[in-house]
This record gives sequence, C-alpha cells and structure tokens, in this order.
Amino acid sequence: MQTILKLIGEKLSNAFVEAGYDESLAMVTLSNRPDLCEYQCNGAMAGAKKFHKAPFMIADEVVAKLEGDAFFEKIESVKPGFINMTLSRKALSDYMNAMEEDEKLGYEGDPNPHIVVVDYGGANAAKPLHVGHLRSAVIGESVKRIESYAGNKAIGDVHLGDWGLQMGLIIEELRDRKPELPYFDESFTGVYPSEAPFTISELEEIYPAASKKSKEDTDEGREFLNRAHEATRKLQSGDKACTAIWKHIMGVSKVDLKKNYDNLNVHFELWKGESDAQPLIPDMIEDLKNRGIAHESQGALVVDVQEESDSKELPPCIIQKSDGAALYATSDLATIIDREKTYAPKAIIYVTDKRQSLHFTQVFRTARKAGFVTDETELTHIGFGTMNGKDGKPFKTRDGGVMRLEFLIQDIADAVYEKIKDNKSMPEEEAKATAKMVGLAALKYGDLSNQAAKDYVFDVERFASFEGNTGPYILYTIVRIKSILEKYKEQGGNLENLVIPEADSDSFKKLGLALVKFPEVMNTVYAELAPHKVCAYMYEIADVFNSFYHNTRILGQEDEAKKKGYIALLKETLDVLLICTDLLGIECPDRM
Ligand code: ARG
Repeated sequence: MQTILKLIGEKLSNAFVEAGYDESLAMVTLSNRPDLCEYQCNGAMAGAKKFHKAPFMIADEVVAKLEGDAFFEKIESVKPGFINMTLSRKALSDYMNAMEEDEKLGYEGDPNPHIVVVDYGGANAAKPLHVGHLRSAVIGESVKRIESYAGNKAIGDVHLGDWGLQMGLIIEELRDRKPELPYFDESFTGVYPSEAPFTISELEEIYPAASKKSKEDTDEGREFLNRAHEATRKLQSGDKACTAIWKHIMGVSKVDLKKNYDNLNVHFELWKGESDAQPLIPDMIEDLKNRGIAHESQGALVVDVQEESDSKELPPCIIQKSDGAALYATSDLATIIDREKTYAPKAIIYVTDKRQSLHFTQVFRTARKAGFVTDETELTHIGFGTMNGKDGKPFKTRDGGVMRLEFLIQDIADAVYEKIKDNKSMPEEEAKATAKMVGLAALKYGDLSNQAAKDYVFDVERFASFEGNTGPYILYTIVRIKSILEKYKEQGGNLENLVIPEADSDSFKKLGLALVKFPEVMNTVYAELAPHKVCAYMYEIADVFNSFYHNTRILGQEDEAKKKGYIALLKETLDVLLICTDLLGIECPDRM
C-alpha cells in the first residue's frame, strides 16, 4: 500500500504538473504546525526562484487544481507560499480500513527480499552472561525481527566466544581440582567419559576461580597462566584430551546460555561460535599471503586497510601474531567466508558494544579487499553505548561487581510485582508470571527506547513505572484495549467484519492520523534499523489512544453501530501496538 504521505504527494504532484510546474516540488510532510493543519507542502517556496514567481501565486494555482478534492477536508495556500492540508474524515477512515485489510497493515517491506545474517548475543561460553551482553541480545533480537518483518530471511547467529583463553584456564583449574580424571593421564588410551566432569554451577564457579588465580601476581600464578596458555594452544591444535574437556564445557555451557536467552525471549537460528571458523583459518591465511593482500610486519601478518579518504590513521588488521596465533579479527574473517559460502547473505549485521567499531572497520575492509564478500554485500556494525548506573558510571552491583543478568531481571520483576500485587483479582501465581513478563518489557523498553549508540542510565524505578515513556505504560495501554474488546465480546459483540467509521471527535481523528503513519514509520524503522523509533511511535499511539479513551464512552455507548465503530478503531490500535511490541521482542499479558 502507498503510504499516506505518498498518496498526498501524488495528488500534489499531479496538481503541480497541471499548473505547469515540476512534480519534484510536491514534497509532502507532516505539519510542523499541527494547530493549523495536518500535512504541508513547501514546494511553492522552492519553485519561486526557478519559475520567477511569487511563491504564494504558485501555491494558489496548485491549490486551485485540488479544490473540491474529497481527499481533503481543507487545502489552502497560506502566505508566503505554504500549502496546508487537512485530511477528510472519509479519506482517513478509508485508509484505516484498507490497512486493516492488508496483511501487514499497509507496510510493504523490502521490495527485494533477501537473506541477512544478524550476529548478536555474542556471549562467551563458560563465563556468566552479564549486563554487558544484555544490550547485544535485546537490540539484536529487535533488529532481526525488523529484518524479518520487512520480508527478509533473517538468520540470527549467537556467535559464541568459545575459543579463547578461558578454555585453557578452565582446563588447568580442573586439573588442579581433579587430577585423577583420565583427561590428565597421559598414558590413557581408552574412550573419554561422555558425562561432563562438572555441573553448570561448578563450571560457573571454576571460571572465576581460575581467572582470579591467573591474575594473582605470584610465581605460582604465572605458572598457572602459562599452563592455561599452553592448554589453549593444545586445544587449538587439536589435542584429544583438551578437545574432550572443551566439548564438555560447551555442552554444559550452551544448555545454560539457552535457558538464559529463552528467559529473555531471545532466540537464535544458529548456535555457532568462533570455534566453527577455526578450520578455515589456515587456508585463508595462505590465500591472503599468496595474493599479497597480507604482508609481514614485525613478525606478525597484517592487512593494510588505510584508505586515501580517511581523515585519521587506521591501524592495519592483524590476522596472525608473531607466535602464529590467530586473533579475534582472524576468526571474524573466517566466519565471513563461512557465511558467504553457506548463505551468500546480502547483508551481515553485527550488534556489539561500540568500542568494537575499529575492529569491525578493519574486518570489513579486509573482507572487501580480499573479495570474501561481493561488492554488493552490506556489512554493518551497530555499535551500542554503555548501560550506566545512576552514578553515570558503567552499571555495577552495590558491592561493585558485574551484575548477572538473571539477578537484574529478577530485580526489575520484583519492582513490578510490588506494584501489581495489590490487584486482588489476580492469583499469586499469575501475579508472579505477569510481573516477570512486564518486568522484562520494562527492561527491554528502557534499553530500546534510547538510540542504540547512546549510553543510558539503568534506573529500575523509572523503567518499571506505569507512567511516562516506559514498557509498563505501553503494556498497560494494550491490556486496557484487550480488556475492552474482551468485554465487548462478553456482551455478545463480534469482532468480525469491523469497519472503522469516519471520526466523530478530535481525539478519534488524532488517533486515526497516528495509526495511518504505520507504513511510513515501518519504512524508516527498517531503513535505519532503529528500534527506538518503534518505541517512540508506540508511545505516541498510547498517548493519543488514552486521550481518546478518556474522552469517549465506548462500551457505555447506546448506539450499537457507533459502539461497533469504536471497537473497530480499538482493534486496529491493538493490531498496530502488538506488531510493534513483537518487533521489540516484548510479550504482553492479558491483564495486569
Ligand atoms: N564475544 C564477543 C564479546 O563478548 C562478541 C562477539 C561479537 N561478534 C563477532 N562476530 N565479533 O565481546
């Protein structure tokens, strides 16, 4: 479906041409003076110079061509040369009804649907999932949903950090604790046990202990760190015992990570990791060397990525250290080769902390220089800011530690529970489940309503508030609509064949004007991959809906036909809000 701005634009464009002017002048926008009109066109001002005419004369002539057009309640030329427009109530309800009939409420999505890989989550196996990974999961999930809604095949890959030093640390810590295990018996020739030698809670405790040990600046500590490096090296060169332990670590850790991501309503199509790219690395490095793309520098192997147009110096991309070890960039490059081979995606989108932006610039440039992707492949890094505490510093727990995600979720669910527990009609169990759902919405909305690149302050009180631009406020509005529709059905009403009538009040019309923006808003959200614009739109809808609700007798309406008309309007409002919450990965209870 054409967006409402395009529809109006087309009418104006015809009028400009009929009056002898360029169609390019017919740019229509939302009015920046909503007190005067709903839409405006400033093309006559722009055309004045070219046509050597006073802008208001041009505007007058254009408006004359549209005189009597039933699409407008009012169209007028206003000095010095603006064209101000107010939509007719009929045109508005027609558009709303057409939206309701369309599968995606009038949104067309991408004209050329394609495959896109979204690389987000990025947890590091065997290390606890903490708030640092929250933003990637929440923003990435939303970006993926925006891509799918546009009609693309979006493949989310968690891309686990599963190949680093943490593995060597765990192996050596395990050796110290349980030296009797067969993995540490050099003469062992049998089959290693299929059962992991630790549980998830042990594993969660082993890594921090090992990490602490490696940092202790004693001789023993350095000895431990050296052993961990050696174990990591052995693992990376395929040692049987190290690989067997690594598999156990991955098995146990993945189960736990899945549970955590499920809790967040974040789901991945692929559970790949850095380790999956490792087999491709030796050939890739050979190839880069042979083609002269990589060269040696101080013993390391690097690819120059500086371009002439760069205003500042860009360090080369290091793909192999002097000791032969691969790096973060190496595995990202090999992963690109793998993705290209397996999916040939038109775009790969990475969602990480913005402090990784240099890394991605280097990787993207190297990939292009080496021809690992086609010229058309889009490589995008969405870098997000830091989640800060109220003190403006990166969020920490009261005791100064990094807070674990599950505690964070619990905190906010508790805050919501405090607010809803007095709702007597709700059994305890439902109240707990609702608090969790609303708490999660509070958390996600609190994050997503900020432009991703910006830092934001994590404020449980504010996020969990039922008023203002918050997740709970939006959900509360949705629940209010759901409950009206439910009651309407209980009264014998029927939600089939609803038709939205012409607006009979200002607040009705305002709600309508907000709803018909939907296709336009979705175009922008998709073009900019901007979940925060979904939030801003929902907030606008919630506000205009609530003022309609307070101004209108809906269920109390005696005139049945009128009541049904309002119900139709509510139904569309709900449809729009539910699509939006879904794009954010937010679930909504039936009552709260
Ligand atoms: N594991 C990384 C971290 O914790 C994030 C991975 C992001 N994805 C990627 N392809 N580099 O910082």
